[in-house]
Amino acid sequence: MQPRPEIAPLRPYEPGKPASALRRELGLEPVVKLASNEGPYGPFPAALEAIAAAAPGLNRYPEGAVELLEALGARHGLGPERIAAGNGADGVIANIALAYLRRGDEVLMGWPSFVSYRLSALKMGASLVAVPLRDGAYDLEAMAAAVTEQTRIAYVCSPNNPTGNIVAAADLTAFLDAVPERVLVVIDAAYHEYVTRPEHADAVAAHQHRPNVAVLRTFSKIYGLAGLRIGYAVAEPGVIAELGKVRGPFDVSELAHAAAMASLSDEDELARRREQNERDRERLAEGLRAHGLDPFPAAGNFLCAEFGDGAAMAARLEREGVIVRPLAGFGAPSCIRVTVGTPDENDAFLAALGRVQEVVST
Ligand SMILES: Cc1ncc(COP(=O)(O)O)c(C=O)c1O
Repeated sequence: MQPRPEIAPLRPYEPGKPASALRRELGLEPVVKLASNEGPYGPFPAALEAIAAAAPGLNRYPEGAVELLEALGARHGLGPERIAAGNGADGVIANIALAYLRRGDEVLMGWPSFVSYRLSALKMGASLVAVPLRDGAYDLEAMAAAVTEQTRIAYVCSPNNPTGNIVAAADLTAFLDAVPERVLVVIDAAYHEYVTRPEHADAVAAHQHRPNVAVLRTFSKIYGLAGLRIGYAVAEPGVIAELGKVRGPFDVSELAHAAAMASLSDEDELARRREQNERDRERLAEGLRAHGLDPFPAAGNFLCAEFGDGAAMAARLEREGVIVRPLAGFGAPSCIRVTVGTPDENDAFLAALGRVQEVVST
């Protein structure tokens, strides 16, 4: 059996190493996992209650889709026809590729950046135009200059995974003004809720009127629902209709509907988590600097810095019971990305880093 030629050279996505695997391999306890940018605090209390209430009904196919789209639309002051939910923001990215990409099309993205843009493009036989970041941030001028007749989609990731840098609102507006309307610009705001910097725009509020813009958001990060898989896109009804044609039936589970809806009701918890993340990210950055490292100016719930040989450093930290993300697969082999965990987890990481550096320098 031959697969489509487009997928023959691809390798399956490799997620961050599970903590359970490290416990098994090394018999280590506790293991701290700061590798996948999940929020460290679990679902919101209201979401846990909603999950428990919905669980007895799981013999039925999901029914909460309409209500959720209405609630998400209301969150942005828009109608439900402007929202497409998916199996994580990743599911939406896959649907965007399926709906819009043909063999020979070009997908523009910054690099290093989120690997799903690349993989979803290559799976469709599209080719990737990767524009190097400038000082860790998307270089939108260079991206605008890289648009060709073949460009179908341009991704803008802000805060950018893995560096954490944001694009300034004015630069994003200038980019959108410069890009032809036949290019779908996908603004990935997976970490939006963490951002406190004033120069960062709410891309939905600022650009929802543009016909060629889709903004991605997710419940996987600050809402603590990564394991449930729910994210969404906000776009013009025409784009949303195309995404509806390619999505799988029932690709968002009933528990995900229920948990996402309930999460939207707790603005206080959202604000608490944002403030906690800000404090802990700053402490973590100070800790890295104290170890002679120079993290990028991050706005999300993770930090990224040059460590020399990222893979070797990640392997040493693993032997100390701390899982971080080496970034060779993201095009940054000298870097490591570390997620902001609980204060205890961050301390454990910094202590492990100190032990590893001591061994390396002696
Ligand atoms: C920039 C970015 N976009 C999208 C995603 C995928 O999020 P989800 O869990 O909603 O699929 C991630 C996950 O790490 C991400 O970093």
